[in-house]
Amino acid sequence: ELKIAGMLLIGYLLGSIPSGVWIGKIFYGKDIRQYGSGNMGTTNTFRVLGKKAGIIVLLMDMLKGTLAACQPYLFDIRINVLIIGCAAVIGHVFPIFAGFKGGKAVATSAGILLAYNPFFFLVAWIIFLTTLYLSSMVSIASMVGMTLITLLSFLVFKDNILTIIALILTIFIFYRHRGNLKRIREGDENIVHFGLYYQH
Ligand code: G3P
Repeated sequence: ELKIAGMLLIGYLLGSIPSGVWIGKIFYGKDIRQYGSGNMGTTNTFRVLGKKAGIIVLLMDMLKGTLAACQPYLFDIRINVLIIGCAAVIGHVFPIFAGFKGGKAVATSAGILLAYNPFFFLVAWIIFLTTLYLSSMVSIASMVGMTLITLLSFLVFKDNILTIIALILTIFIFYRHRGNLKRIREGDENIVHFGLYYQH
């Protein structure tokens, strides 16, 4: 149990690394939380700091989840990687290194999915990019992506642990997107320059 607690703690600390905030402050002299949507995630990094920073933050936020979730493999301890990975998602959303005010759980959730099963990760990306193409809204693509992974896991992959964790993450992700949902309802959500909706 001590080892599991240790892995959860390391997972939480890894997840707590506020990539968007640090990259912004160190390389651009900007706190992205003061611009755009005010979020510290990948989307707002793209929005405020551009493509290069966005890709770096996406990779960092994703891979900290992957690394955290890989601990049971690394230390050869038998526990589901998704459970350990969730500690990183909690860290990302409530980061000890950024006043416990973090991101919306999307990239880090994708990262733990990569550690669990690269095929499911690929499926999640395909759903995400298709929805992004149709809606031009990252928030919609994030919520639809996580919801469909939960449904696919339940109905097609028939993977009980993934179904439960994905359901919890889906609820969590919707909760973190409250502000986005309000903007979507009001026709006011930020559009990315990609996809059908944008072209209209
Ligand atoms: O990953 C977060 C994304 O779904 C929405 O980000 O900055 O548009 O609120 P943002």
